[in-house]
Amino acid sequence: MHVLVTGGAGFIGSHSVAALLADGHTVRVLDNLHSGQAENVPPEAELILADITDQVAVEAAIQGCDAALHLAALVSVPQSLKQPIETFGVNTTGTAYLLEAARRMGCRRVVLASTCAVYGDIPGMKAEVAPLHPLVPYSASKLMAEELLRCYARSYALQTICLRYFNVYGPRQRADSPYSGVLARWCAAVRVGQPCRVFGDGEQTRDFVSVHDVARANLRAITSAAIESGAVYNVASGQALSLNTILATLRELVGPQMTREYAPARSGDILHSCGDSTRLQALGWHPEIELATGLAELVEI
Ligand SMILES: NC(=O)c1ccc[n+]([C@@H]2O[C@H](COP(=O)([O-])OP(=O)(O)OC[C@H]3O[C@@H](n4cnc5c(N)ncnc54)[C@H](O)[C@@H]3O)[C@@H](O)[C@H]2O)c1
Repeated sequence: MHVLVTGGAGFIGSHSVAALLADGHTVRVLDNLHSGQAENVPPEAELILADITDQVAVEAAIQGCDAALHLAALVSVPQSLKQPIETFGVNTTGTAYLLEAARRMGCRRVVLASTCAVYGDIPGMKAEVAPLHPLVPYSASKLMAEELLRCYARSYALQTICLRYFNVYGPRQRADSPYSGVLARWCAAVRVGQPCRVFGDGEQTRDFVSVHDVARANLRAITSAAIESGAVYNVASGQALSLNTILATLRELVGPQMTREYAPARSGDILHSCGDSTRLQALGWHPEIELATGLAELVEI
């Protein structure tokens, strides 16, 4: 297949590009390098430097593609609180441009990178049928993007699939801001002998899923004939681990020189998050990488 990957120079995008190439597909990346890096894109893939809100560029990029994996987005929750209009513009309107380009150019399938943040802070394991409570502009922008995909699946001959990732971690995740993925920040801190900072008491739980597992889920969503168009699938490990438990695992890996410090909880942070990925598992995808294995890989980098 010929596949367009928007946001392919980013963390999840670059691993997904590698998985698609390894499976024998031709890959074109559209990215404006807002948070991604050109060197993340393997040389076998074509890189188009363009903005997802540039309708003409998006249409040109999708020409000749059988499917599109749509990851380009403004991903920072704090930024979305400060700049909601920019967030809706890239994440929601950008998705509309991509869908319309796909429809006009005869691309058959669009897969969206959505987020567990659409569930908000409801307790318990989240299946796809759980109520949706986006708490911040970032999650609202993604939920609206999901609605656009469902609309295009109903209205046109376009297959659309939404994947709701839980907390993704792994190599190439940026660690250079307090809002970066917590495991990337901790592993970077450990490497330079600084304490791992925890916001809150550390008893909040997260469902961490390896980027390698997410890349395989993306590959499956792009290529599977069995996947349901218009549907949504959680991509989760199914394990809720507290940050304190994960810090204990990290300490076992790196030794007693690892220290931690606690800072006040941040507003907007969700307390508990765990995903039920039974629906995707029925299609043959399973989370394969245990957190301890994934952490060991991160610590070694
Ligand atoms: N990392 C996670 O835990 C997680 C969880 C749920 C959902 N997601 C979603 O997965 C996708 C990828 O996230 P990531 O963690 O790899 O983040 P990332 O920041 O590494 O990737 C986003 C990519 O989109 C590009 N981009 C941003 N604005 C753009 C624009 N206007 N035009 C073109 N390209 C643009 C960036 O340069 C970057 O390469 C995002 O859609 C995000 O919302 C991520």
